[in-house]
Amino acid sequence: MEVGAVVFDAYGTLFDIDALAPQCESLWPGKGKAFVDLWRAKQLQYSWLRSLMASYVDFDVITAEAMVGACKVLDLPCDVSHIRSFLKIIRTLQAFPEVPALLKALGGRKRVILSNGSPAMLEATVGNNGLSGEIDLILSADTVQVYKPDPRVYQLVVDKLAIEKERIAFVSSNGWDACGAKRFGFWVSWVNRMRSPLDELGVVPDQILSSLAELPGYL
Ligand code: LAC
Repeated sequence: MEVGAVVFDAYGTLFDIDALAPQCESLWPGKGKAFVDLWRAKQLQYSWLRSLMASYVDFDVITAEAMVGACKVLDLPCDVSHIRSFLKIIRTLQAFPEVPALLKALGGRKRVILSNGSPAMLEATVGNNGLSGEIDLILSADTVQVYKPDPRVYQLVVDKLAIEKERIAFVSSNGWDACGAKRFGFWVSWVNRMRSPLDELGVVPDQILSSLAELPGYL
């Protein structure tokens, strides 16, 4: 069936979270990578827990709360200046090198971001990377006040584009997100750059890629 739209997760898929670690060395010397790894894990954990508790706050707040949580566990200083500096660092998130050429190669199809990120966060990161002209639509979980992998987030794409689920190609580097999208009914590519084992969630993505550059060959 002809793919009507290509829908991308943002953080970790289009934008390189791990590349934040060297910049965090200035905040916490020798602990940059440990902080980023734990902060990201807590950011996702808090998004899932708040969704289950029906206590939504936007992803900026979750990001800051996860930062405080990670600093507590790692016993790192975390005053207002640390929070301000880290929120600035996040706005410098870079797209993976293959992203600009990939988006241009998809020009004939709708190119959409579907992310937990707040609209402001996503617009800033897309703009900072010079990709505003290559992304046709940004959809945020903020619209439905619940986080992925809740089906209401994936439903946003169907509602906004009026395209059947089966004609939507969803792409994520987050295995749990790829499984959530597959369970929802999209045609799913998992970009498994780290060759991680897939989570046991009763579904399997349609294909597993090692880089976004491989995607056009599957569309
Ligand atoms: C996002 C996170 C889950 O962009 O990567 O939604």
